[in-house]
Amino acid sequence: MGISFKEVSHFYRGLKKKDINIALDNISLDINEKNEFVALVGKTGSGKSTLMQHMNALKLPSRGNVEIFDYVITPKQRKNPKLKNVRKRVGFVFQFPEYQLFEETVLKDIMFAPTNFGMNKEDAKAKAIEVAKLLNIEKLLDKSPFNLSGGQMRKAAIAGILAYEPDILLLDEPTRGLDPRGQEEIMELFYNIHKKTNKTIIMITHDMNIVYQYATRVVVLNDGKITYDGSKEELFNSDIYKNNSLAKPEVLELIDYLNEKLNLGISYDTYTLDELLKKLENITEVKNNE
Ligand SMILES: Nc1ncnc2c1ncn2[C@@H]1O[C@H](COP(=O)(O)OP(=O)(O)O)[C@@H](O)[C@H]1O
Ligand SMILES: [Mg+2]
Repeated sequence: MGISFKEVSHFYRGLKKKDINIALDNISLDINEKNEFVALVGKTGSGKSTLMQHMNALKLPSRGNVEIFDYVITPKQRKNPKLKNVRKRVGFVFQFPEYQLFEETVLKDIMFAPTNFGMNKEDAKAKAIEVAKLLNIEKLLDKSPFNLSGGQMRKAAIAGILAYEPDILLLDEPTRGLDPRGQEEIMELFYNIHKKTNKTIIMITHDMNIVYQYATRVVVLNDGKITYDGSKEELFNSDIYKNNSLAKPEVLELIDYLNEKLNLGISYDTYTLDELLKKLENITEVKNNE
C-alpha cells in the first residue's frame, strides 16, 4: 500500500480557543503505491489541500493515523526525524510552486531539494540536467529563475521535485494560472511520467475537462468528508457530480447534446474533444455510405 488514511480528522483552531474548524472529518482512504492517477476534487474549502498535506506528513492528523509506505503518522509526531524520509518518497508540487524559487540560477534551484535530501553535488547536478531535458528547459539552466516566463518558472519548480525521484507525486492545482498551451504541456508531462514509470499521481484540480481526460479514479470531498470515490464515467453519468457542485466535462455536455438532438448514441468512453471529432467523422462516413 502507498498511502492509507485510517479514520483521520483534522481540526484547525480559530482565534478563540473554542472555535474549531473541522477540515477533515473521519477520512478513510487507500491509494496504491503504483498505477493510480487520482483526481481530488470538490468545491473551495472542502478540505482538498489539507488532505493532500497529510499525504506527505506536512500536516499531522488531529485524530486517526496515516500510513505512508512503512511509516505510520500519528497525532503526536512533531519531531520525528523519519518524516524527512517520508517527504522524500512523496513529492509535493504546491500551488504556484514558482513562488518558492529563490536561487541565483535555475540549475542551483533544481539541485536544492535533492542536495537537501542527501544527494552529493555531482549527482544532483547530473540529475538536474537530466530532468531539465525532460522538461525542455535545459537552455535555461544558467539563467536566473526570475527572468523566465510564468510557464518556464513553473517547470523549473517542478523539475526541483522530480530531481529527487519521489515514488508518488502530489500536485495541488498544477495547471492553475497557466495559459491553455502551458496547461496542456504540464498535464502531458505528468501523464507521460505516469505512463512511463507507473508512479501514482494524486492531483487537485477544479478543471473537470482535465479530470475526464487523465484521471483513473476520482475522489470527491465535500465539507471534509469523502462523498465519492470511483470512476469518472460513473461520477458524471449520475447526479453525484451535481450534488457536489462539480461542472460536467465539456466533451460530455457535447455528447449529451448530440445524442439528444441527433440520437447518435455516443458513449461516455470518449475523453477529449479530439476523440469525439474522430467518432463523429466515422458516423458521418457511415451515413454517407448508406
Ligand atoms: N491554516 C488554516 N487555519 C485555519 N483554517 C484553515 C486553514 N487552512 C484551511 N482552513 C480551513 O479548512 C477548510 C479546508 O480548507 P482547504 O483544505 O484549504 O480546502 P480546499 O483546498 O478544498 O479549498 C476550510 O474551511 C478552510 O477555511
Ligand atoms: Mg486548496
